[in-house]
Amino acid sequence: MTQPKVLISDKMDPKAAQIFRDRGVHVDEITGKTPEELKAIIGEYDGLAIRSSTKVTKQILEAATNLKVVGRAGIGVDNVDIPAASAKGVVVMNTPFGNSITTAEHAIALMFALARQLPEADASTQAGKWEKNRFMGVEVTGKTLGLIGAGNIGSIVASRALGLRMKVVAFDPFLTPERAVELGIEKVELDELLRRADFITLHTPLTDQTRNILSRENLAKTKKGVRIVNCARGGLIDEAALKDGLDSGHIAGAALDVFETEPAKDSPLFGTPNFISTPHLGASTSEAQVNVAIQVAEQLSDFLLLGGITNA
Ligand code: MLT
Repeated sequence: MTQPKVLISDKMDPKAAQIFRDRGVHVDEITGKTPEELKAIIGEYDGLAIRSSTKVTKQILEAATNLKVVGRAGIGVDNVDIPAASAKGVVVMNTPFGNSITTAEHAIALMFALARQLPEADASTQAGKWEKNRFMGVEVTGKTLGLIGAGNIGSIVASRALGLRMKVVAFDPFLTPERAVELGIEKVELDELLRRADFITLHTPLTDQTRNILSRENLAKTKKGVRIVNCARGGLIDEAALKDGLDSGHIAGAALDVFETEPAKDSPLFGTPNFISTPHLGASTSEAQVNVAIQVAEQLSDFLLLGGITNA
């Protein structure tokens, strides 16, 4: 068998390249290329390992005459044109477990940051003010957390929240009653979650079913004083309606790690009191980046060496 060739086109933990070499896969790490530059070289490769920067478009796939597999070191495959890949017989893989804990922890961190207004309190204190009376927080103990999505990440958030003595309700059409019992959470319909939750966190991919799930209409159904965290995908929340909800005081706080348009260099939400943002850091821990790099390299190597190259 000829040695398969893999291109790593986004910055990735060095363990990925090491695994490819150890497994006998030729690997090139060429990051930061423009789409045109990527098109010029992609034809050489059997496998492509990416994070979120490389956009695997129809045009890239057309030029990828030898490509058998794309591996995303991470969860979301929104940067891959899946229909175009499927039409060409290119398999697309992700690493659904490698960064789940990290992303769940970021959601919990943002929930606490909202509950105690940590970023604003920090900025105020470091500005030399001592505004002890300005920052009255809320406890999370005894509060109801509404999870929209109770898959890999949502279920980890649930376990952490239960440890914090919160009640957890979840809206997830794929959650079976047995799994809800196993997780110690209550499965509810979306309207009930909106009515009951003191905190809402989102943990779903962006699909036709989930797009705008927190629409203006649904945000209006939330409990007054709700705090909302999104570390999943932009486009799940109507950002203009969120801004209006924060301005009116109906929504007590919101934290977004993800935005409808990324990078979010500008947003009407920026500067809104009780609004916190981070630049899509959900998966950004050293542990998660090592995990996803190892997983993607092992999966691609298995695929290319143990039966994936049938049309070579
Ligand atoms: C993912 O889908 O794995 C996360 O959102 C992380 C990322 O895209 O960087």
